[in-house]
Amino acid sequence: MQRAIQFDRTGGPEVLYVAEVPRPRAEAGGLVVEVRAVGINPFDSKARAGAFPIDDPFPRTLGTNFAGVVAEVGADAAYWDGAPVAVGDQVLGWEMGTLRELLAVPASQVARKPADLPFDVAGALCTPALTAHAAIGVLNPGPGDTVLVSAAAGAVGILYCQLALEAGARVIGTAGPANHARLRALGVEPVEYGPGLADRVRALAPEGITAVQDNYGREAVDAGLELGLPPGRICAIADHAAVAELGLASPGRYERRADVLERLAARVAAGELVLPVQDVFPLDRAADAFALLDTRHLSGKIVVAP
Ligand SMILES: NC(=O)c1ccc[n+]([C@@H]2O[C@H](COP(=O)([O-])OP(=O)(O)OC[C@H]3O[C@@H](n4cnc5c(N)ncnc54)[C@H](OP(=O)(O)O)[C@@H]3O)[C@@H](O)[C@H]2O)c1
Repeated sequence: MQRAIQFDRTGGPEVLYVAEVPRPRAEAGGLVVEVRAVGINPFDSKARAGAFPIDDPFPRTLGTNFAGVVAEVGADAAYWDGAPVAVGDQVLGWEMGTLRELLAVPASQVARKPADLPFDVAGALCTPALTAHAAIGVLNPGPGDTVLVSAAAGAVGILYCQLALEAGARVIGTAGPANHARLRALGVEPVEYGPGLADRVRALAPEGITAVQDNYGREAVDAGLELGLPPGRICAIADHAAVAELGLASPGRYERRADVLERLAARVAAGELVLPVQDVFPLDRAADAFALLDTRHLSGKIVVAP
C-alpha cells in the first residue's frame, strides 16, 4: 500500500485526508515514480473546491505536478528524445493525482531533472513554467514593448516577467507591497493592484504600454483597455469569461511538452530563471498547504513533500 491525498466531497482544505491506496505498477511505455515534491497550483484548489464541473467519482485525488525518483520502468519507456528511462533517474512532470507517494505516469509526461535542481523547485515547475512559456509565445514581447503583468509575483507571473525581460521588454508588474522588492530585484517595475491601476501605470509609463499579461482577473484587462490597447494585445489565463466576452488573446489549452519542460528545468538549474519556494509541507499536512495557497498572497510556491 501507499499513502495518497483524497477527498470525498468538494469544499475547503479540510475535505482532504490521507488514504491508504494500492501501489501502482508500471505499464508499457510508463513508469512508477517515488514522488519527492508536488507544487500545488490554484487549479488544484479550484478542483478541490468544485469551482468547475468534474465527472470523476469520489473519492477523488489531487495534484498535477511532481518531481521524484524513478522506482519502476515499464516496457519501452523512453524520454522525449528516445533515451531509455532507468530506475533511479530523477524526473519531473505532470499527471493527475500526484499528491501520493508512488505515481504511475506515461514516460511522455516526464522530463529529466538536472541533478542540482532541488526537488521542491522541480516539483513546482511544470504548470507555471509551461504556462508562462506558452503565454510568452502569444504576444511575443520584445524590445520596444512595455508589458503590464498582473499577479507578477505569483508563480506564472514571476516566470513570465523574467522571460519578457530577457526578450528585451520593459515589464511593469502588479503585486502586493510585500513582493515589490522581490520584483525590483528581477528588473520588474512593481505597481500595486487595486482601484486606480490604469492611472498608476500611466504615471510609470506616460508613453503608454504595448501589451498586458493578465494572471489574476478583470482589473489588469480593464486597465489595458483603458490605456488604449486592442483586445488582441491583452493575454489572459485566469478569467476565461473575459477572454470569450472581449476577444482577448490566450494560450488556451496549450500542449504540455516534456522537451520544453526539460529545457526550462535546465535553465532554472543554471540560475537563468528563478521560481521561489515559500514553504514545504509533509503529505499529512496537505490541508495546511492548501489553506496557505488559498490566501492567494504568497512569496513563492507551496510544495507538498510526500
Ligand atoms: N490557463 C492556464 O493554462 C493556467 C495555467 C496556470 C495558472 N492559471 C491561472 O493563473 C492564475 C495565476 O496562477 P499562479 O499559479 O501564478 O498563482 P499564484 O502563484 O497563487 O499567485 C497568485 C498571485 O495573485 C496575486 N494577487 C492576489 N490578489 C490580487 C489582486 N486583487 N490583483 C492582482 N493580483 C492579486 C498575489 O499577489 P501578492 O502575493 O503580491 O499579493 C499572488 O502573487 C490562477 O488563477 C491560475 O488558475 C491558468
